[in-house]
Amino acid sequence: MKVLVTGGAGFIGSTLVDRLLAEDHQVDVVDDLSSGNLGNLADARSAGGQFNFHQIDIRHAEVSELIERRKPDVVVHLAAQADVRVSVQNPVLDASINIIGALNVLEGARRAGSSKVLFASSGGTIYGEPEASALPINEGHSRHPVSPYGVSKKAFTDYLHAYRELYQLEYTSLALANVYGPRQDPHGEAGVVSIFAGKLLDGEQCVIFGTGEQTRDFVFVDDVVDAFVRAMTRGGGLLFNIGTGVEITVNELYTSMAKAAGVAAPAEHAPARVGELDRIALDAGRAKIHLGWEAWTSIDDGTKAVIDWAATGRTSA
Ligand SMILES: NC(=O)c1ccc[n+]([C@@H]2O[C@H](COP(=O)([O-])OP(=O)(O)OC[C@H]3O[C@@H](n4cnc5c(N)ncnc54)[C@H](O)[C@@H]3O)[C@@H](O)[C@H]2O)c1
Repeated sequence: MKVLVTGGAGFIGSTLVDRLLAEDHQVDVVDDLSSGNLGNLADARSAGGQFNFHQIDIRHAEVSELIERRKPDVVVHLAAQADVRVSVQNPVLDASINIIGALNVLEGARRAGSSKVLFASSGGTIYGEPEASALPINEGHSRHPVSPYGVSKKAFTDYLHAYRELYQLEYTSLALANVYGPRQDPHGEAGVVSIFAGKLLDGEQCVIFGTGEQTRDFVFVDDVVDAFVRAMTRGGGLLFNIGTGVEITVNELYTSMAKAAGVAAPAEHAPARVGELDRIALDAGRAKIHLGWEAWTSIDDGTKAVIDWAATGRTSA
């Protein structure tokens, strides 16, 4: 198949690209390298003619023309302004990338006659702040996001639905939990697993905001990539939660990672960050039924993979 991945130089995108190339798909990546980097695509670039990279900002209409020219069978749309706090500070910037840019991509897919668009939505934001009694939440939960980022991630699935009705362009949206794994940027806002791994290896004290009893649903990147690959041919017209369904506290995460890194020192606590979710976990039962998907990587195996990856980066630097 011909697959075009926007945001393919990023953390999840580049991991997906490697998997697609390993399965002999023809892959085009569109990325402006604003947070991703070509280092993530080192393996992909050695794939020769099976792989093409296009440095384009999706806010520019030329991205639609490019997609129309490349005629992918499937478009996987991952490029995004992916920081909740940036979206609160600058909702217009967020919408220009996550709504207008996304529409440029969608228009390209329509004009190219692509058979399907896959989208990375956000299970941690589209459902707003769920009641603890509703956890793990399923896709039937009300969707009232409380950040501009969450609104954009909810709205684009609505656009996909409209395009399906208007133009019979198939789609699947994956509402991702907290994705972690090798290549995640440890400097960003997200990626507490990467941040802890870096600090533990550098002998620096980790900071936990608030009590550390807030919970997250940590899902490993290879499992997420597997969900995208399955959704290329299944689950049309649906939104799927992609998570483990298990709540892990940030304190538990730290304890497990510190043990794996051989660090005995406790983490430092700082004041809670405003607007952070208290608890979240996603019920992925629908993905199991329609995609045959479930998360299989344990948190211990996954965090060890991150620590090993971060350690390799340090010895080769
Ligand atoms: N990582 C998570 O836990 C998580 C959770 C839910 C949803 N998501 C979504 O998954 C997708 C991928 O996230 P990620 O964690 O790999 O982030 P990432 O920042 O590593 O990847 C995003 C990629 O998009 C590119 N990009 C950003 N703006 C662009 C623009 N205007 N034009 C072209 N390219 C642009 C960046 O350079 C980067 O390579 C995003 O849509 C994000 O919102 C991620």
